[in-house]
Amino acid sequence: MILIPIPDSFLNELVDRNDIVDVVSSYVRLSKKSGSNLFGLCPFHSEKTPSFSVSPDKQIYHCFGCGKGGGVINFIMEIENLSFRDAVEFLARRVNMTVPEEANDRESQKRSRMLALNKEAARFFYTQLSTPGGEEARRYMAQRRIGPATAKNFGVGYAPDSWESLRNAMRDKGFSDQELFEAGLVRRGKTSGFYDTFRKRLMFPVIDVRGNVIGFSGRILGDGEPKYMNSPETLVFNKSQNLFALNLAKKSKSGYIILSEGNIDVVSLHQAGFDSAVASLGTSLTPEQARLLSRYTGEVIIAYDNDGAGVKAAQRAIGILEKLDLKVKVLALTGAKDPDEFIKLRGPDAFRKLLEGSEDQVDYRLRAVREKYDLSSDEQKVAFLKEASELLARLPGAVERQVYAMRVAELASVKAEAVTDEVERRRKRLLGRARQEQKRAQEQPERQMQPEDRALRYDDPASAAAEQGLIRLLYLEPELSRTDGLPAPEDFSSSALADIYRAVLDKARRGEAISAATLGSSLSSGEMNLLVQLLQQPETLAHGERALTDYINRIRERREQKAGADDLRQLSEKLRQKKGYKG
Ligand code: GTP
Ligand code: MN
Repeated sequence: MILIPIPDSFLNELVDRNDIVDVVSSYVRLSKKSGSNLFGLCPFHSEKTPSFSVSPDKQIYHCFGCGKGGGVINFIMEIENLSFRDAVEFLARRVNMTVPEEANDRESQKRSRMLALNKEAARFFYTQLSTPGGEEARRYMAQRRIGPATAKNFGVGYAPDSWESLRNAMRDKGFSDQELFEAGLVRRGKTSGFYDTFRKRLMFPVIDVRGNVIGFSGRILGDGEPKYMNSPETLVFNKSQNLFALNLAKKSKSGYIILSEGNIDVVSLHQAGFDSAVASLGTSLTPEQARLLSRYTGEVIIAYDNDGAGVKAAQRAIGILEKLDLKVKVLALTGAKDPDEFIKLRGPDAFRKLLEGSEDQVDYRLRAVREKYDLSSDEQKVAFLKEASELLARLPGAVERQVYAMRVAELASVKAEAVTDEVERRRKRLLGRARQEQKRAQEQPERQMQPEDRALRYDDPASAAAEQGLIRLLYLEPELSRTDGLPAPEDFSSSALADIYRAVLDKARRGEAISAATLGSSLSSGEMNLLVQLLQQPETLAHGERALTDYINRIRERREQKAGADDLRQLSEKLRQKKGYKG
C-alpha cells in the first residue's frame, strides 16, 4: 500500500476532537498557574518544578525547560515514540475516526471547486443588486440604512425572486447540479430537477479568516418566516467553527471584538465605525468560535439582543470566553432591542459611550464565585474568601479592590479589614511574581530568543528576530502571503526558519489551513519545537501591515549588508591574488 499524505481537513478535525488538555492530562498532571496556560512537570526531561505548559486556546504545548513543543500530534509522537502517521492513527482511534488511506486528493479538489463556486455565487448575488430585478432589495437596504459602501465591504447581494437564476448562471460557468447541490446552493425538487435554495433574499456571504466564501446567510426582505436561511453544513462550511465578519474584524485596531447576534447588527455596527463586530452564525457561541476569537483579541464585548434569550445566551457565552481567559464585558443596551436599533435611535456616539462604560465583569464573577459555596459552613466560607480574594487581587484599581472587598466581607459576615488585608497580601505576591518574570525576560532577551536546539542556533539574531516575526504574522494572517515583495526563504539568515517559512508560505498561498497539526508533516521535530517557541511571543495584527513592512525591510537590509561584506571579501581576495600577496 502506498501511503498518501493525510488531508489537512482530516488532520484539522482530528486535532479539534483531540483537545490537547485532555490528551496531555492522561500523561501529565496539569494545574493552572498563571494566565491561560496550564502547567505540569515535563514528561520529556526530569525536573522538580513545573516548566511544561499547555495552552488551551492555542492548542499547543511548550516546555520552558527543555524547549520541546508542538501540537497534540507532536505530543503523541514524542511521548509514545511514534511516527507522524502512527501518532495520527493513535489519536484517530482515541476519538473513533478512521484515517483515510485512499488518495484523498479528490477531497481537496472538491473543496477548492466548492470555494470557487461560492465565490462565483457571491459575485452573482452582488451584481443582482444593481439590476432592475433588484429594486425591492435596494429599497429594503435603504430602509435598513445599509449604504453602498457597506454593501460592498461585506459583499451583500440579492438572490432574485426566481427558481433557477443562480442555477443557470452557475451552469454557464461550468458548475454541475451536483456541485451546486453539495454546496447547498440548490435543492432537489420532489418531482422535477433542482431549484435555487435562496430566493428573494438579501444575501450575506460568510467569509472565513482566509478570505474564502464558505457559505451564505440570506435574510428575507421585510417580515416573514423563516427570517434567515443559512447554507447547510458542507465540506467547507462549519457553522460552529466560524464567525460572521471575523474576516473584517480581525483587522480592527480597536483591541477588542464586539460579539453580537444578528448579521444586520454586525453590518450596522461596522457602518457606524465599530469595525470589530462579529456574530455567530445563528447558533449560540461555541468553544471553537471562542478559541478562534482568542487568536485575534484579548477582550470580547458582548452586545446581544436585549431580551430574555439574549441575556441567557450572553451568560453562556461569558462562561465559554472566560475559560480561555479572555476579558469579557457585557453591554447594557437600554431602550433598544438590539445594537442596530440602538445606533439608529441614539447614534454612534451613544454606542461608543456604552462601550467605554460597559461594566467589567467583577460583579458577575463575584456572583459566580459566591454561588459555588454554602456560606453557612465555616469551611466553605474560608474557601469562598480565598477564591474571592484571589479574584479581587487581580483588579488594577485600589478603590475598586477596596469596594469589592467590603462587599465580600459583607457576604461572608466577616470584618472588612480581614478581607482587605488578604486581598492586598495576595496582590503583593502576584506583583512580585510578575516583576520577577519581567526581570528575567529583560535580562536574557537574546538567550530567550535562541532556539533550544543548539544545532539550530541563530548566527544573526537581529535578522532572525525579523524572520520569526514574519512567520508569526503569516501564521496569524495567511492573507499576507499575497503581499508583494515578501522575501524568499533563501533570503533568511537561519535555515531552520527558512524551512518553517517555506512551509507556512506554501500552505498560505494555497489557501490551506495553517496549524501546528498540518505543518507537522513538513517540518522536522526540531523545527516544530522552534515554531512553537516563536509562536509564544506576542504578535498583534493591529499594526500588521506596518510590522510586515518593518520585518521585510530588516531582513532585506541584513541580507544586503551581508552580500556587501561578501563582495568586499571577494574583492580583497582578488586584489590580494593579483598583487601576489601570500596572505
Ligand atoms: P433583524 O434585526 O430582525 O433584521 O435581524 P438580525 O440580523 O439582527 O437577526 P436576529 O437578531 O433576529 O437573529 C440573530 C441571528 O439568528 C441571525 O443573524 C441568524 O443567523 C439567526 N436567525 C434568525 N432567524 C433565523 C431563522 O429563522 N432561521 C435560521 N436558521 N436562523 C435565524
Ligand atoms: Mn437584530
